Amino acid sequence: LNKIQIEMRGVFAQLFRCQAPEVLLEGPAGTGKSTAWLMRLHKIAEKYPACRLLICRKTRASLSESGLVTFERSILPARHPARKGPKRNSRTSYSYPNGSEIVVSGVDNPAKILSTEFDLIYVQEATELEEEDWEVLATRLRNGRLPFQQIGGDCNPGRPLHWLNRRCDDGRTVRLVSRHEDNPWLFSAGDWTPWGRAYLSTLEGLSGVRRTRFFEGRWAAAEGLIYDEFDRRTHVVSPFPIPADWRRVWVVDFGFMNPFVWQDWAISPSDEAYLVREYYRSERTVIDHVEALRDMDLPRPEAVVCDHSYDGRDALERILGVRTIRARKEVDLGIQAVQRRLRGRLFVFADACRDRDPILVENRRPCSSLEEVGGYRWDPHSDRDRPIKEDDHGMDCWRYLAMYLDGTSAKMRVARSFRG
Ligand SMILES: Nc1ncnc2c1ncn2[C@@H]1O[C@H](COP(=O)(O)OP(=O)(O)OP(=O)(O)O)[C@@H](O)[C@H]1O
Ligand SMILES: [Mg+2]
Repeated sequence: LNKIQIEMRGVFAQLFRCQAPEVLLEGPAGTGKSTAWLMRLHKIAEKYPACRLLICRKTRASLSESGLVTFERSILPARHPARKGPKRNSRTSYSYPNGSEIVVSGVDNPAKILSTEFDLIYVQEATELEEEDWEVLATRLRNGRLPFQQIGGDCNPGRPLHWLNRRCDDGRTVRLVSRHEDNPWLFSAGDWTPWGRAYLSTLEGLSGVRRTRFFEGRWAAAEGLIYDEFDRRTHVVSPFPIPADWRRVWVVDFGFMNPFVWQDWAISPSDEAYLVREYYRSERTVIDHVEALRDMDLPRPEAVVCDHSYDGRDALERILGVRTIRARKEVDLGIQAVQRRLRGRLFVFADACRDRDPILVENRRPCSSLEEVGGYRWDPHSDRDRPIKEDDHGMDCWRYLAMYLDGTSAKMRVARSFRG
């Protein structure tokens, strides 16, 4: 505990002195950015009576698992009066004996933030916010208990075009850059600690743009093909009979003008997913599509993972008598889950899509997810890592599948660990 206080140095000492209206502390993963910010809030709360500080993140839930853990474990001294009150995930603030308060909120709860005024606002993982969120937060700075008022944040670098990077480039936000050597837990007495070496070698092992951002700490854009590991020679396989006891999962992406995509996946006991059959068609009603599926006489799935169309799900449930569940649609997490799975756990039967939609053939559009994957690219003009939203319907299904399978196997792991 004291160790963290004493060893606040380098760029973190600069942060403690900084009184600019806007400041960003950026850097690769694990340099101690959040710890420094939280320590600073604690010091300010103790020094200036009756001040109001805000710890904020995109969602309140994500704060319980990150910032508040650090705050309670490493910053707030044991038996400190501010510990009084509810547990981490239902906490709304930490109250200090001198009348200062550190409020905790997500921008997903604007009512809570907009009804109050603050002296200083700290946004954890500030790149998750929209620029508008940041500007609205800044309007809440007028409590007047500090000699300065400030909105600040921390983040790992993202895309160069991200609004926060541009804000630093054009001078509206002061940029402070942290390195791994700034963190005494990783680097001490002129050398890397054993933890430091282990941690850095993990970061060094990341690939592509994640390595550039989290290990090197540079703003960098993901470019080109999203699934550049996809290789027909390994990922497309000759069909084989699926054993009756394998899991089956259907995934559906509804389309009205766009193609309607339905996929039947078979999951081996060692968690390899095979796309056995795919239906990929445009310009019919959802009822027509679902009736076409009914006529295919298919083995029943354990789950039907769907895009969020109410009418579409209703049609599936009524006509096929299956229960549907909503897909998890977080684009970045889904893409990462598919990328991991492409290393030996995702395959496509060569004959999965048997009849290609003549309208799509005519219009030179992809007619199956296999025909999408080689053209599925990062959008070079976006400020976030986003795919170009075009010819991505089969790709959406792959994301939904990977998220569903990762979610269920996590649950199974938990269940197993409970059984011991
Ligand atoms: N000044 C310090 N003294 C000792 N240990 C520290 C210090 N700062 C950070 N640490 C330790 O280093 C680890 C990483 O710290 P922290 O989470 O603050 O880094 P971060 O830069 O916010 O990481 P991320 O990029 O993942 O958000 C934590 O385990 C923390 O306890
Ligand atoms: Mg952090």
